[in-house]
Amino acid sequence: VFKNKLDEGFTLVKLSEEKTAYFEVKGKQKTLIIGIGKFKDITQRKSFLVVRRVIAEARKYRLKNIGIDFKDFKFKHLKIKDADLGELIGANMTMANYEFVNFKKEPKEGWDFIEDLIVMNTNDLIAKAFKKGQIIGVEVNNCRDLANMPAGDMTPEILTEEAKLVSKGTKVNVKALDVDDMKILKMGGVLGVGQGSKNEPRFIILEYYGTKKTEKPILLVGKGVTYDTGGINLKPSQGGLLNEMHMDMAGGAAVIHTVITASLLKIKKNVIGLVPAVENMPSGSSYKPSDVLRSMSGQTIEVINTDAEGRIILADALTYAEKYKPKLVIDIATLTGAAIAGLGQKAMAIFTKDEKIEKKMRDLGEETGDYMWPLPLWEEYEEDIKGTFGDWANLGKIPSFAGAITAAMFLYQFAKNYPWVHLDIAPTMTTIEGQYLAKGASGSPVKLLVKLLETFK
Ligand code: BES
Ligand code: ZN
Ligand code: ZN
Repeated sequence: VFKNKLDEGFTLVKLSEEKTAYFEVKGKQKTLIIGIGKFKDITQRKSFLVVRRVIAEARKYRLKNIGIDFKDFKFKHLKIKDADLGELIGANMTMANYEFVNFKKEPKEGWDFIEDLIVMNTNDLIAKAFKKGQIIGVEVNNCRDLANMPAGDMTPEILTEEAKLVSKGTKVNVKALDVDDMKILKMGGVLGVGQGSKNEPRFIILEYYGTKKTEKPILLVGKGVTYDTGGINLKPSQGGLLNEMHMDMAGGAAVIHTVITASLLKIKKNVIGLVPAVENMPSGSSYKPSDVLRSMSGQTIEVINTDAEGRIILADALTYAEKYKPKLVIDIATLTGAAIAGLGQKAMAIFTKDEKIEKKMRDLGEETGDYMWPLPLWEEYEEDIKGTFGDWANLGKIPSFAGAITAAMFLYQFAKNYPWVHLDIAPTMTTIEGQYLAKGASGSPVKLLVKLLETFK
């Protein structure tokens, strides 16, 4: 709610240059004062954290109704426009007010979520932007929900149903290919990876037409591995991150909720989302190292390691994308541990041959907090993935070298017919300490993709 006075029972939350957080009571008005250090030291990057921390502290003290003063968040030296700041606060407060509690019993004293918020000293423009930020924040959280869902409750089929469910009442049309459909299209990649699980693969297609159909669409392709055991090359118990591999569809979840957001915000672009969804399991029927799969493109894939499954399913999706004559294709995938080795968990890796788009994406990353850093897509790396018995090997010749790059080079072999960007989001799959966000899926890069759809020319 936007007004200039707080209702009774609302705690005012203010920022100060001190170091700690404390309460102040004056008459009936209770104020929570949060020390964030010298205001002049607040950078754009820190501003996301300040906003989230307001919610985190308020939740810690179990406040239900809080009020903030928009002016408090206007750090003049940052030169953020009022509307942009409103959107930033709306989105980040919403993200900080989230936790995955679907499988937890509500405590006697209730959950600690903020229920009502009053924002003071706004105007119509700021209020509108704030609400838009909230819509985006809710979709980021919905994306986190999908990714956080345990794999037993989020199979390819369930993911398909969820995509259909969330599209109800929006202008997004969702359909899905099943195994028979994929056989007709000769999607040997998705079928190969998916053949080891009794939970059959699906290929989810989301279509949103925000402008005339003759305008070329932007395609978003998301890795939808609903659980990655590694397959016959089973991941190790130690260091295999098996307890996190239900989030190997985080790219797919981001695609689904970005397309939904495009519709909610009535973005005037045509946007198509493609999500190949599979469960990567070892079993009597699973694909094996030494198998050669024929992809939809006709190029064959020599399977060296069944744990490098993401690139195989994405190969078919990148070929399927061609039928839309896209003006841009972005794939989003929790693709490699090597990207984490290179960047830690603070930035995803971006690969593209288009320097203009790279610059644009990196700028939007700074604007939204979905940070990224580039790695090369040089032809010199191509020899590393040449197959012996198939056209392309799904693993580099020296697997411990340049794993994120050889994975990207592999994808590139299927993405040569349109402008293309690959985001390896393994680094930012989960939140980390200090972000003032709940443990689990981060919902990145939904905010970035929404901004890109809004502003791409
Ligand atoms: N899903 C994993 C990558 C991953 C690891 C994502 C950790 C998030 C956190 C991917 O399918 C995989 O297993 N990649 C292998 C590739 C290797 C076999 C070439 C990896 O990175 O170890
Ligand atoms: Zn894997
Ligand atoms: Zn994977």
